[in-house]
Amino acid sequence: MADETFKYVILGGGVAAGYAAREFVKQGLNPGELAIISKEAVAPYERPALSKAYLFPESPARLPGFHVCVGSGGERLLPDWYKEKGIELILSTEIVEADLPAKRLRSAHGKIYNYQTLIIATGSTVIKLSDFGVQGADAKNIFYLREIDDADQLVEAIKAKENGKVVVVGGGYIGLELGAALRINNFDVSMVYPEPWCMPRLFTPEIAAFYEGYYAQKGITIIKGTVAVGFTVDTNGEVKEVKLKDGRVLEADIVVVGVGARPLTNLFKGQIVEEKGGIKTDEFFKTSVPDVYAVGDVATFPLKLYNELRRVEHVDHSRKSAEQAVKAIKASEEGKAIEEYDYLPYFYSRSFDLSWQFYGDNVGDAVLFGDNSPDSATHKFGSYWIKDGKVVGAFLESGSPEENKAIAKVARIQPSVENSDLLLKEGISFASKV
Ligand code: FDA
Ligand code: NAD
Repeated sequence: MADETFKYVILGGGVAAGYAAREFVKQGLNPGELAIISKEAVAPYERPALSKAYLFPESPARLPGFHVCVGSGGERLLPDWYKEKGIELILSTEIVEADLPAKRLRSAHGKIYNYQTLIIATGSTVIKLSDFGVQGADAKNIFYLREIDDADQLVEAIKAKENGKVVVVGGGYIGLELGAALRINNFDVSMVYPEPWCMPRLFTPEIAAFYEGYYAQKGITIIKGTVAVGFTVDTNGEVKEVKLKDGRVLEADIVVVGVGARPLTNLFKGQIVEEKGGIKTDEFFKTSVPDVYAVGDVATFPLKLYNELRRVEHVDHSRKSAEQAVKAIKASEEGKAIEEYDYLPYFYSRSFDLSWQFYGDNVGDAVLFGDNSPDSATHKFGSYWIKDGKVVGAFLESGSPEENKAIAKVARIQPSVENSDLLLKEGISFASKV
């Protein structure tokens, strides 16, 4: 098997890879210079679709509909686009060894890929219940969701177990989005999570109370403060019951697990500087190894606005970090300088007819505004976070595009506020005036 050599290699074929490829083309790329190596079988796509429209019972999203860069309103890059641009899409190929000093990657098939410049875009993998030794966690019909193959398996199970019972383990992003998607598919859904309220890494108890109430109204049973400790299986090896730590036992035809993600950095252990669980980079996504960049979920980068190093596991950053790294690579070749990455954290989610956005930092004191009752007619409510007399973060459910823009501006500008009463009184109109 002959070795292959490329000027640029992107390792990973997810969101960041697709946006990096588009940026290379924008900046000027010659045919044959760039390869994307991905263990997935399809060209880069907008991963967020997998936990939302991909699972709809009616007119579900399917490829090629959501290849990048449609998620940010850009051109859809179909496999032919890569061909036209002379970009080698090396799919269904897992890299199992990276030798950074030798600038060489080896695939599971034993093929060697040499590069001059490497962009690491391996993203994250799911944390599994078997990692915690949960008994029976490898039973059939226990699903995780990261890649399109996982989503296809779940779709098959949804068809096979029509109107059945689902237990969702985890109360984070995956838990909330999949709990809703399965309910829409007419499953009897129970959600189980250890914390006193859902999405504790972002939500305050008041924000969570709205979603928990709303989900309950949709017929979802929420069980908090306990975890799954084991599963029983039937004679086909399919999951039958979920055993909880508090002694309860829940029937289940399908179990969906979303207990967090882990950045895929293992190929580079001992060869590169890591920080906060990710690969440490500068503001141009350069790592400690010459000619090696890291972007998306795996990068721990300087978040200039807060003067600290952070890792961000969300799609907006994966797109923007990829673009920044490519701009930096091209600029350094041309001896030019570019601006430092100056990221404003942006997270969002959608489920049922709900849709929220968050910008900034959820630190300091939270001030709830609007009506967070699940029965409210508009569902419009939000929260500001105040730290050291400044508004540093803002959350809004059911905002209009203008209102979402306004909360983004607030989080970026960080206006001073004398007391929280003003925010409470003015609510979203405070942001709209900034
Ligand atoms: P990403 O995971 O997209 O891509 C990594 C790629 O590398 C994959 O193709 C993988 O197969 C490949 N790879 C890894 N190791 C490899 C190896 N050794 N050899 C070859 N290939 C390898 N965020 C958000 O802001 N809003 C949202 O609504 C959602 N929704 C959402 C839904 C679901 C189901 C998931 C799993 C995640 C989200 N996210 C999200 C998070 C968001 O999708 C995530 O942050 C980005 O996809 C990260 O982009 P990356 O390119 O870094 O990794
Ligand atoms: P998460 O970190 O959002 O949530 C993990 C949740 O797992 C915790 O909130 C907790 O409730 C639960 N948990 C932890 N240990 C548990 C245990 N032993 N038993 C039961 N529950 C337990 O992670 P996730 O929801 O799995 O999401 C995975 C990745 O996908 C993350 O990177 C996330 O950012 C990304 N994602 C993002 C979005 C979005 O931004 N809208 C949507 C889907 C997925």
